[in-house]
Amino acid sequence: MLLAGPAGREMARKMSNLLGVKVLEVEHKLFPDGESYVRFPGSVEGEDVVVIQGTHPPQDRHLIQAFLIGRNAKELGARTVSLVSPYLAYARQDKRFLEGEAVSILTILHLIKQSGYDKVYTVNIHSPWIASESPIPLINVRAEGALAAHLLELGMEKPLIVSVGKKGSEMAEAVARVLGSDYAAAESRRDRVTGKVEVSMGRVSAKTAVVVDDIISTGGTMAEVVRALKQMGVEKVYASCIHALLVRGAEDKIMGAGAERIIASDTIPNEYAEFTVAGVLSEAITR
Ligand code: R5P
Repeated sequence: MLLAGPAGREMARKMSNLLGVKVLEVEHKLFPDGESYVRFPGSVEGEDVVVIQGTHPPQDRHLIQAFLIGRNAKELGARTVSLVSPYLAYARQDKRFLEGEAVSILTILHLIKQSGYDKVYTVNIHSPWIASESPIPLINVRAEGALAAHLLELGMEKPLIVSVGKKGSEMAEAVARVLGSDYAAAESRRDRVTGKVEVSMGRVSAKTAVVVDDIISTGGTMAEVVRALKQMGVEKVYASCIHALLVRGAEDKIMGAGAERIIASDTIPNEYAEFTVAGVLSEAITR
């Protein structure tokens, strides 16, 4: 049974069509003081429940809703409860980068476990290795194939694929392999205190390039890579990602740097969502 949280309704509908299983939509409201309320309008007793609830902004509210739903499902007799959070909040704080910092993602995973969940599915988590330290089974579903298939559908002929940072290289290589494209890497360095990003990359020559990154947040990194490619004479540069957070004027920065357009998935509801991860998530759940 799919249980659609307030931040997962659209994805649950898509997955329900693919999986042919019913969806129960969780009722929710906010109390006048801002606290969350949830109620299940049907029984979950004896079911293997898959909760679809994104934890994109506002992350803290969406996480609390996920916690309330998980515990409620267990208390009301669900056999197993899994959480599908296509974008998992706090995943980028996976280390103590500065002395004294909290490793936020591990706390979040502990809280998910404590809320009655047996398993968590997410898409292209920022650091896949975190699964080995997670207190709860964490299934990292990869969406590079869905992105590559979409680029093929757009009729792009062997665009140069450009990765961002070390972590992005595996992802971009996978996309390049499917497209039979050449592949180049851009290095990015972020100042931990000011947040300013610097990008460096070797010379490339191409008519069309697609920059592939896991996340676009403030757009600073993507804009720098797009700018560098435009300065090297690349005619068309597409800015693609799996998770489009797009905060603080990210679109303007990226388009201002000369991008043709932004191409994103639907892990986070956004106006640039051109391809869906519902298929890869449904396959993972079925497996
Ligand atoms: C970094 O490791 C990630 O892959 C992204 O490049 C980064 O999170 C993007 O952040 P922003 O859009 O704020 O530059």
